[in-house]
Amino acid sequence: MTKGKATVTLDSRYVLSDVDSRIYGSFIEHLGRAVYGGIYEPGHPTANEQGFRQDVADMVRELQVPIVRYPGGNFVSGYNWEDGVGPVENRPVRLDLAWRSTESNRVGTNEFVAWARLVGADVMMAVNLGTRGIDAARNLVEYCNHPSGSYWSDLRVSHGYRNPHDIKVWCLGNEMDGPWQIGHKTADEYGRLAAETAKAMKWVDPDIELVACGSSNRHMATFPEWERIVLDHTYEHVEYISMHTYYGNRDGDTPNFLAQSLDMDEFIKTVVAACDYIKAKKRSKKTMYLSFDEWNVWFHSNEADKQIPPWTVAPPLLEDIYTMEDALLVGAMLITLLKHADRVKMACLAQLVNVIAPIMTENGGPAWKQTIYYPYLHASVYGRGTVLQTLVDSPKYDSKDFTDVPYVDAVAVWNQDGGDVTLFAVNRNLTESIPLECRLGSFAGYRVVEHLVLRHDDLKAKNTSDNPNNVVPTAVNRTSLDGDTLHANLQPASWNVIRLASQPTAG
Ligand code: AHR
Repeated sequence: MTKGKATVTLDSRYVLSDVDSRIYGSFIEHLGRAVYGGIYEPGHPTANEQGFRQDVADMVRELQVPIVRYPGGNFVSGYNWEDGVGPVENRPVRLDLAWRSTESNRVGTNEFVAWARLVGADVMMAVNLGTRGIDAARNLVEYCNHPSGSYWSDLRVSHGYRNPHDIKVWCLGNEMDGPWQIGHKTADEYGRLAAETAKAMKWVDPDIELVACGSSNRHMATFPEWERIVLDHTYEHVEYISMHTYYGNRDGDTPNFLAQSLDMDEFIKTVVAACDYIKAKKRSKKTMYLSFDEWNVWFHSNEADKQIPPWTVAPPLLEDIYTMEDALLVGAMLITLLKHADRVKMACLAQLVNVIAPIMTENGGPAWKQTIYYPYLHASVYGRGTVLQTLVDSPKYDSKDFTDVPYVDAVAVWNQDGGDVTLFAVNRNLTESIPLECRLGSFAGYRVVEHLVLRHDDLKAKNTSDNPNNVVPTAVNRTSLDGDTLHANLQPASWNVIRLASQPTAG
């Protein structure tokens, strides 16, 4: 039985940080049907002349995805980027050892940059530090970013791309701490290679920003020694260290599952501590930022993936069909990222289409929005501006792996330009509504624009191609203001978006 209510206190004088919009980034890997059948499907009724599905592009634009990581993921650690440029008919078909699939290379760097432009996103490019190293990485920077007049830049021009791609953010490999990674390395081996690769890449283009690989998750045996050693090698050469995490409700313990954003929170705090330890050790003035460039729920598809025959072209791998409760955890993870907006400057919901994704497609058929699409959409669209130090007082519970889990987690973002404030709140209580009182402080006098709610009586409810609107947000209209206090009712197991504006209602 939950006792009491949740109280939130806001004040415009107490700000945490501006939101770097890149925390609403996502990820497209050459994996499963993310590229082929996902963003790209020539012959699909909605495909444009370049073969990109317009139904998918429209949804990505609606999400306002600012940056998309590419081409992997585990895939990048065996990738020869040269295979994916130049005339398509000359491109080799390769075995992708990471996902035991066959890669046709019909889409490569230039096509992906064209797609990113189509959807209004920047590219976060990863280089292969598994089977390759400094030479391939610096050549790719030259190919992408050097204007012309050198071998690799002129090759790009000869491929039909006269203007440089100007890719700003580059990842130095992927999950190099993981034994599953092609070319897995010790922290010292990786740290040295990453530092030397970073130097060469920045000598080609001094304006790029670099992300060193952190741990694949908080439970790796090498965490957080990995961060300490890698940062010792790379601190002065990179701007970000990466973080990855995926959660799942494998044993059906939903209260424990929904508490897993507390693990993400601990993970961020420890990586910040490791960064600041190295900063102090090096007597550096530079602050290291975090790129949480893979995060999501991932477990539904694990068993099905074992049945897929090896060396299939674009197999249906990692096709998690998400439930209402998955959307709740995704919402709680978004709140956690926002609460660390002072250090987390980039993050990528992994991934974007078909592969553990908010957008699903059928080959030759429709595209639809999964449950997790909605918290991601709301945060990306309404969560831009300044994160307020949001004081939350909530009833708590204990679960198998966590103590003192607040039923209500919340964070507010103030968009000073638009004159509005948005409160994102999740109620983890599965059976009871929780009354929310929000003290508005200097925001007294604002009006409620809307209170959007994502919930469903069935926590396992999903959206499918046959029933794409089973779990969708609705507006509730009982949220009210009483002086400087906002009163709302947070329904059981719900994701809430309460939008306030300083402007009077039109008309
Ligand atoms: O996103 C799926 C996979 O998860 C990525 O390829 C890898 O980096 C991580 O283990």
